[in-house]
Amino acid sequence: MDIRYFKTLASTNDTAKELAVSGAKEFLTVVADEQTKGRGRMGREFVSPIGGAYFSTLLRPTQPFDRWGLFTPFAAYAVRRALLDLTGVAPDIKWVNDLLVEGKKICGILAESSLDKKGGGFLILGFGINIGNQNLPAALSETAGCLPYHDRDALIRRVLFYLCDYRRQMQSMHWLDEYRSACAFLGKRVEVIEKHRRRFGIALDITETGALSVCFEDDERAELQGGEISLRGAQADTFRHNL
Ligand code: BTN
Repeated sequence: MDIRYFKTLASTNDTAKELAVSGAKEFLTVVADEQTKGRGRMGREFVSPIGGAYFSTLLRPTQPFDRWGLFTPFAAYAVRRALLDLTGVAPDIKWVNDLLVEGKKICGILAESSLDKKGGGFLILGFGINIGNQNLPAALSETAGCLPYHDRDALIRRVLFYLCDYRRQMQSMHWLDEYRSACAFLGKRVEVIEKHRRRFGIALDITETGALSVCFEDDERAELQGGEISLRGAQADTFRHNL
C-alpha cells in the first residue's frame, strides 16, 4: 500500500489529484499532519490543525459513472467501521457522509471525481477526522467534536482496510444496511439544504443508490442524490406511519 506522509499540505485532496493525474496507482493515500487550505463540501473551509487525521485516497472505479455516488456513503461506512473497531465508539451518520458522536461532527468526507473522454477516470476520497488533542477553534465547539484516540496511522490503515474491499462490497451491498442503521435521523424531521432554498421534511430512507428519500411538508416526495441536511430542526417524535 502506497501511503505518503507530509508535514504540511494545502489540501491532501489536491496532492492526491496531482499524483493521480501523473499515473499513481489505486489506493495511493496522501496524509498530512496539517492542511493550510483544507476544503469541505459546498466550497467550505475545513479547519485542519495538527493532531487530526487528514488523508486522501485515490480510487479508480470501473463501475459506470452513475454508480459513483455510492462511494460517498461507502466511505462514511468505512470510517465508522474503523472507529468502531479501534475505539468501541459507533458514530451516527448524517447523510451523506458526516460522522457524529453525541451530536457533534467528528469526521467529514470530501469526494472529488475526474472523468476523461473515454469514460475512465478517478475518484479522490478525502477524510478529515477529529482525534487526539486537536486545538479546534472555539467557534466550532458547538458543532464539532473530537474523539480521544491517539494512533492516527493505525486509524488510517484501518479505514483503508475497509475501503480496499470496495469492489466486493459494491456487489453484495450489505454495507448499506449498516449505513442505514447508523442514520439516526431516519423517520425524523430534517431540514434539507438545497442550492437556492431550505425546506423541512421527514427523512424516510436511504435508497439503493445512496439517495435520501424525503417527504416534504407540502407532501412532495423526492429522492435526493446529493446535497445536505441539517438535524437542528430534527425531532424525535415525528415518525408517521402513513408516510
Ligand atoms: C466536509 O465535512 O465538508 C468535508 C471535509 C473533508 C475534509 C478532508 S481533510 C482531507 C481532505 N483534504 C481536504 O482539503 N479536504 C478533505
